[in-house]
Parts: sequence; structure tokens; C-alpha cells
Amino acid sequence: MRNIDSFTHVRGESIYLDDIPLTEGTLFAAVYDSPIAHGKIINIDISEAKKSKGVRGVFTYTDIPGENQIGGIIADEELLASSHVHFAGMPIVLVVAATPEEARAAAKKVKVDISPLQVITDPREAKGKNELIVPPRTFRLGDTSSVWKDCEYVFEGKADSNGQEHLYIETQGAYAIPQENNSIKVYSSTQGPTAVQRCCSRVLGYPMHRIEVDVTRLGGGFGGKEDQANAWGALCALATHHLKKPVKFSLHRMEDMRMTGKRHPYSSDFKIGLNKDLKILAYEATFYQNAGAAADLSPAVLERTLFHCTNSYFIPNVTATAYSCRTHLPPNTAFRGFGGPQGMFVIESAIAQAADELGIKASVIQKKNLIATGEEFPYGQKAKSEASDCWNKAVEQYSFEKLQMDVDQFNRENFLYKKGIAFMPICFGISFTKTLMNQARSLVHIYTDGSVIVSTGAVEMGQGVNTKILQVASKIFSISPDKVKVNSTNTSRIANTSPSAASATADLNGKATMIACETILNRLKQVASDELKIAIDAISIQDEHVYVKGARSELDWKKLVMLAYVNRISLSEHAHYSTPEINFDLTKEKGHPFAYHVFGTAIITVTVDCLRGIYEFDSVKVVHDSGSMMNDFVDRGQCEGGIIQGIGWMTMEEIIYDTEGKLKSNALSTYKVPDVYSAPKIIDLHFLQNDKDNLAVMRSKAVGEPPLMYGIGAFFALRNAIMAFNSKSRPKFSAPMTPEKVLMNLYEKKKVVV
Ligand code: MTE
Ligand code: HPA
Ligand code: MOS
Repeated sequence: MRNIDSFTHVRGESIYLDDIPLTEGTLFAAVYDSPIAHGKIINIDISEAKKSKGVRGVFTYTDIPGENQIGGIIADEELLASSHVHFAGMPIVLVVAATPEEARAAAKKVKVDISPLQVITDPREAKGKNELIVPPRTFRLGDTSSVWKDCEYVFEGKADSNGQEHLYIETQGAYAIPQENNSIKVYSSTQGPTAVQRCCSRVLGYPMHRIEVDVTRLGGGFGGKEDQANAWGALCALATHHLKKPVKFSLHRMEDMRMTGKRHPYSSDFKIGLNKDLKILAYEATFYQNAGAAADLSPAVLERTLFHCTNSYFIPNVTATAYSCRTHLPPNTAFRGFGGPQGMFVIESAIAQAADELGIKASVIQKKNLIATGEEFPYGQKAKSEASDCWNKAVEQYSFEKLQMDVDQFNRENFLYKKGIAFMPICFGISFTKTLMNQARSLVHIYTDGSVIVSTGAVEMGQGVNTKILQVASKIFSISPDKVKVNSTNTSRIANTSPSAASATADLNGKATMIACETILNRLKQVASDELKIAIDAISIQDEHVYVKGARSELDWKKLVMLAYVNRISLSEHAHYSTPEINFDLTKEKGHPFAYHVFGTAIITVTVDCLRGIYEFDSVKVVHDSGSMMNDFVDRGQCEGGIIQGIGWMTMEEIIYDTEGKLKSNALSTYKVPDVYSAPKIIDLHFLQNDKDNLAVMRSKAVGEPPLMYGIGAFFALRNAIMAFNSKSRPKFSAPMTPEKVLMNLYEKKKVVV
């Protein structure tokens, strides 16, 4: 089944925040944000802004009736700066005017006198100054210190990965509309409607029931709207509170790029020890996370870095320590993979370095150490599948030996073009790492004509979750998908939602929907049983008909629904699902945090133009562990999109802040994301389907984030191509590997005679 939104998307009929018809009297917001990254506010002068054309209100922190606080995990982030600014782009003054242009023009007239303070942009420097967001955490398995002496080979190194701009097509935004009895309805482009509701409620000092948040869909979130949609919702609600008017704020691209946080850059140290059979005996890693100026979701992201620090490998002795370092960049936040990719990049770098020094291919070490059923991750959970299943299948499916031979032959025959090939196995844990967040609810109504409407906490952001939820309802009731509609996500219909994140949205909300539908279905079967005077066990509902002992009866779906209504049987259900089995003990850093793991292996091939440093990805060939896939179209889309986004992070997307903490790559002209021309020429996907029991919805494993990590292989494929051109070059483990960097690496220590 195709994504149910595909039809309205291609016709331009899908409703995003900016498409919501404006209510009479709507005003528009803009902010004056800090031009510098760190400083003490001496004076805020709004007098000129107030006189500016069309202006209806200018607000500072003194106008906040509740708390001037938007920090979720830690209360360390002001909505509007009061005494200090902590990053360039931090909102200081909110301006509201009759048009967006007038609001922006007025914001330019705000004058804020800021006395500059020292700026830190580097996480290691922040750590040196003890600027930590939370105390460091360490995950341990076995005892690394005692096994180094048993290792035949020990290697140490450093690996750095840079941030990544979310670049959702739809920028951040919100639209607040006053309701009766001092309530406010907020339309928000958020992955977390409840987070926006909570934030508005906190800032305004309203009880939560006076704030209703509604989300139709997002033009992408990628983690950037898990927490960072809150501020814009709260700013609009603040203005609506004061002006009693609808207020809308839809950020321009450059405002969004400047003011919002991104994927966390990490700088990391590693030490890896292997025995003579190339089994990894010990691994130590220290991660310095660049959290930016406030906690945001950084502590949770940091945790996932530790969870995924050994990727798909079993390593008996691990010590991994992670520091969340406070710098003066915009607070960095969730981004597809949520810290996992950053951890995986480091272990892959360690393996690549070991391979370089031993003069072997990294894949030899990778393959030898793949985790097997029953082996333990550093956090105590045991693997329930073999990482080698996908690996071996990839080798066979894509005739790896031949691929490698072709690459070697190409490299022998060509001087100015070289190819590189790399394997990238992945293993990603599914569940919010914070156990309590793994809960969801669904509200299902059947109307008297037999049509069904489903509301959940799931936010559709292009990942196809509404399609999957619709499939669940249609399957359980055994009715045509046309009979089911999925409602917008609304905090009055579904309360206390976890954000749509952690790839777990379809699992959590889908399972809640399943429970709700099954409950109603059982009632309907009882109605049929009473009507037909047949034991309920003999009744089933298939293809919109009641079946008795497998034979179709006269009673169809519509009649059955009407009969239930006439008999005053409820056609509605609100169900709750919470993931069983999961737990995590923070005092021991051990437990069973994930409902299950998603595995996979990609083989990535690249061709480098060694004269210019530019490159093209020939192919990405993947075997992906999908469980029993419920939607081939959607899952393929997630894999292709994730892979390209991952390659972008590792290769061409380069975020540059200057030493003063100002974003230099602040527009699409200076920040390059992969377009159709830089996407791999071929993406081959093979889904390794199996019916093994798992906790996924309809056993169809989560697919939102894992494929991004295949993109990490792009870095190593490039590295291999560079070393094929110049055997003396040892490109640093420093992502992204931009064409400029490729060029420098190609000619590192090389005398070229052409
Ligand atoms: N796909 C699209 N098209 N747009 C998005 O914003 N977000 C990703 C992924 N795929 C995203 C996407 C992220 S970060 C997550 S966590 C998951 O989708 C969230 O949705 P899911 O839980 O339904 O997989
Ligand atoms: N993943 C994504 N988002 C989250 C998580 C997580 O594990 N925990 C809290 N927010
Ligand atoms: Mo995704 S980073 O969990 O929104």
C-alpha cells in the first residue's frame, strides 16, 4: 500500500502549518535574536521597534507570566534571554505585527547592548573548563585494564564527526489561536505535541488543559522538532495571551538555520586491542559531545552514543565514557540516530585504523567480531539475532567477491580515478532509552456507517506512520483501507504523548491502535453471536462480513456496526500500550533497554576523481533486517532517504561555526545537502524477512533511523579509494569527508609526477 499522503502531496493539497487558513485578525511574530554567542545583557531598548509600522506588541522576558524556562531534561534554557545570551541566535525580544514583513522590519529596530564574554565552541575545551551539562557516564563490560596485556595488537586514535543541519523542508513554526475561557489552541510543526503543550503551559502559567496542541503533519522533522519546536509554540502563545489575537510565526530558512540546534558534533578518543586471530578483546572510548549552550536532549543523546558504541560487534571488555560539554553554540538536539551514529563512527574508525596498521581489509576484522545470539552488549542486554545473518546474505546476494575484484581491477587499470569499497554493518536498539517514554494511546471510533477514525499520539512527518496505523485498523477489523481515516494529532484527543521519535512511533501507537481495535472487535463479535445465536468462538469477521465457522453470513460490516449501535454497545475505545520487558538501572548502567534490535549490512562503493577530489557513489547494496515487513513502499522510502541523509552527514554536509560561535554555513548556498546528482547511482535493498517473534507492530521492525547509519560506510569507502591512489595517505577520522578534504588526503605526502 502506498503512503496515504502521496496523493495529496503530489497535488499540493497536504496541509502543513503554513497551509492552515488564517483566522480573521491574525498577527505575525518575529524575534530579535542575539548577534553574538556569549555575553551579558546591559540594556534592551524596544522603543523604536514599538513605533515601527504595523507593530501590535513587543515582548521581553519581563512579559512572561509563568516561567521563563523551556529546558526539558534540565531547566537551563530561557525562552527569552534575561541577563545573558549563551549562543548566537538566542531569542531576546518577540515582536508582533500585522504582517510578517512588518514584524521582521520592527525586530531589526530592537537595540540590545551586550557586553561580550569568552566564547567556547570546542567540546574538549569545555570539558577542560569543567563546563559539563551533566556528570559523565561510563558503560563497562568486563575489565579493559586487565586485558591490554593479552592483546597481540593495540591501537589508539581519535575520531571526530561534525554536526548536521536537519533541513526539514518545512521550517519550524507555530500558530496560536485564542479560544474561549482563556484557552489557547496551538497549531505546531512539532514531533512532540505534548512537549509543546507542556512548554506553553509552563511559560504562561496555565494548567495544561487550557492549551490544546494540534498537528496535521510535518514537512520533515528528523529529530529537529522533537524538542526544538517548543520555543516557537510558546512564543506565539505568549503573544496570544497578551494580545488576545491569533499569532503565527513561521521561520525563514536562515532564521531556522541560525537559531536552532543540530546534530551533535563529537570528538572522541579510542583504544582497541585485538588478539592474533583478530578478535577484538578490548575497546575503550571517550566521547566529547558538543552539547551547545543548554541541555535540550543532550543527556539522552549522550546515553544512546554509549548504547551504540560497539555497533554490531561483540567485545568482551569495554569501557566507554561520555561527556556532555557545554559550549556557546545553539543547543544541539535529536537527529536521526540520536547519538548512535556518532558512537558507531568511532568504533568503525578504530577498526579501520587497526586494519590500516595491520595491512588488511577492515571487513576482515568487522566480520570476525559480529555479535551473535546470546552475546552481551555493554549495557547488559543480550543479542537475540546474529549480526552475521545480514552480513553473509549481503556477501552472497551482491556477489561481494566479484565486487571487490572489479574494484581492484579498476584500480589497477586507472590512475586518476580510484574506487573504494566498504562494509557497514549496523545494529540499532528500538525503544526510547528512557523506559517511561515507551507508552502510547489510541482512540478508535467506528461511526454508524461503518467508517472508522483513529487518533493517536503519532505525528506524521513523512515517515509513513499514519499509513501503518491505518493498515493496522484495516487489518484488525478486516475492512477496506478506504474505510479508515487517521486524524490529526491533538493533545485533547490523546494526552501525555511521547514525541514521535526513537523510530518507535509505529510500534507504540500502532500497538495501542491494535488493542483498541481488538477490544471493539470482540464487542462486535459478541453482537454477532447474540444476533445469530452462535457461540462467539465460531464467529470471525473477514472482508467486511461476519463469518460463522468459516462460512460467510448475511451480516455484513455495516449492518453489524448499526446493530451494535442499536443495542447500545460502544463503538469507541481508548487503549493504552506500554512496551513489556524493558528496563534500565541507571545506578548500574545495565538492563534491557530495547524492545529489540534492528540489524543490517551495507556494501558501499565509490569512485573518486583523483585530480579534483570529487566523488560519486556507485552503489549502496543493503541487506536489511525488517522482521515481517508490513509496508514495502514506506520501508523502502525510509531506507533510501536514511542512507542518503547518512551519506550527506559523512561527506558533503559541512557545518561551520567561526571561533566566535557564528554559523557560517547559514544558507543553502553554503550548506550542501545531497541532491539527485549526488545520491548513489544505485541503491539495492534486500529485506531479510522473518517471522520470528518480536515486539514490533505486526512484527514489522522499526525502520525510521537505522538506515541512516549505513551512510557511515561512505566515509570508509572514500578513505579506501584515497589510499588506493596514495598508499602513504592515512586520512584522519574526521567527518565529513568533503571533496576539499579528499583532495588534501589524496596528495598527503605524495610526490606526483603526471
Ligand atoms: N522520514 C521522513 N520522511 N521525515 C522525517 O522527519 N524522521 C526520522 C525517521 N524518518 C523522519 C523520517 C526520525 S529522526 C525518526 S525518529 C523516525 O522517522 C520517526 O518516525 P517513526 O518512529 O515512525 O519511525
Ligand atoms: N530516541 C529518540 N528520542 C528520544 C530518546 C531516544 O532514545 N529518548 C528521549 N528522546
Ligand atoms: Mo528521531 S532523532 O528519534 O526524532
